[in-house]
Amino acid sequence: MNAKFLTTSKAVEILKNNGIVAVPTETVYGLAGNATSSEAIRKIYKIKNRPADNPLICHFHSLLQLLEYVEPLNETEKTLAEHFMPGPFSLMCKLKSNSQLLNATAGSNFIIARIPNQPLFIEILKNVPFPLAAPSANTSGKFSGTNAQMISEDLGILIDGIVDGGNCNYGLESTIVDATNNIEIRILRKGPIGKLEIQKVIKGIPVVFSTAKAATPGSKYKHYAPKTKLNWFEKEEINHLKLDAAFLLTKQDFDILVSHNVKLKEQQLILLGDENNPEFISKNLYHNFYLLDKLNFNTAYISKCVAVSESGIAMALQDRIFKAAQ
Ligand code: TXA
Ligand code: MG
Repeated sequence: MNAKFLTTSKAVEILKNNGIVAVPTETVYGLAGNATSSEAIRKIYKIKNRPADNPLICHFHSLLQLLEYVEPLNETEKTLAEHFMPGPFSLMCKLKSNSQLLNATAGSNFIIARIPNQPLFIEILKNVPFPLAAPSANTSGKFSGTNAQMISEDLGILIDGIVDGGNCNYGLESTIVDATNNIEIRILRKGPIGKLEIQKVIKGIPVVFSTAKAATPGSKYKHYAPKTKLNWFEKEEINHLKLDAAFLLTKQDFDILVSHNVKLKEQQLILLGDENNPEFISKNLYHNFYLLDKLNFNTAYISKCVAVSESGIAMALQDRIFKAAQ
């Protein structure tokens, strides 16, 4: 059964009553509920079928609102927040003691905080008197939803409705950063704001990718994967692949197949876009996973999409494809 479509004011009313609604962000849709309410938090875990020890990212309408809940930011965090919030960027922050947000963080004293840059979601955040916990709007383990139809089919009547904001701009989840020690910036999850973008605004502080597994969001549990078993391939192998599969190909890989006279049927082919345009491929990636699962193949091959630059989005795209094809 399909989910109900909601106006922002209806969504606000539902959220004030501990309901759960899917909301658009510029990265992926979120499954939002009152971050200070144990009842709303419980519902989010249940709907997503999410492991109870996996904390929920929380959303604020402004830095001012965030600072009501967390300890003062250090200099590095301030600079990061000034440049990248609102935006596709999330920051790990220390909660004030006895915080109302301990339910959302599964008891951790650290929260992952985001200020989204999506007008409908900001309007909702400004009209509820609490922050919103909002993990990606998908069943746990699955790829995130990037339009209302995907979410309606995945979560349907389990949720109290969806605010339809069209297709998400980036299509991949936000970058998650930990700069709490003020001596290095750790990227815990790759996203649209990458090492390249961060180094442009912060000099003299190293930016590292976290390798500590337990602390790295998205590494402890399987994420981002379609039901169809995905495999990636090296370009040299492309015309030796078994043809009894679906293919998600960049334009360049498709051209290689054509030049080798390999003919794919329309029902087994999804074109991802030009490999030199990781923004475009990222924006449509999860929707293409959704379409792939409807093709009903057991296995699929996907172009590796090796990062064409060090931009955040190019690195994040490579990361998600590698994870989905693990
Ligand atoms: O772009 C995004 O970040 C989207 C939109 C909806 O904001 N949200 C999102 O949420 O991707 P989720 O739950 O799918 O991914 C957040 C990740 C999870 O892997 C979770 O484990 C981690 O962040 N996380 C959340 N709160 C945390 C905390 N307090 N400490 C450590 N990890 C945390
Ligand atoms: Mg997620």
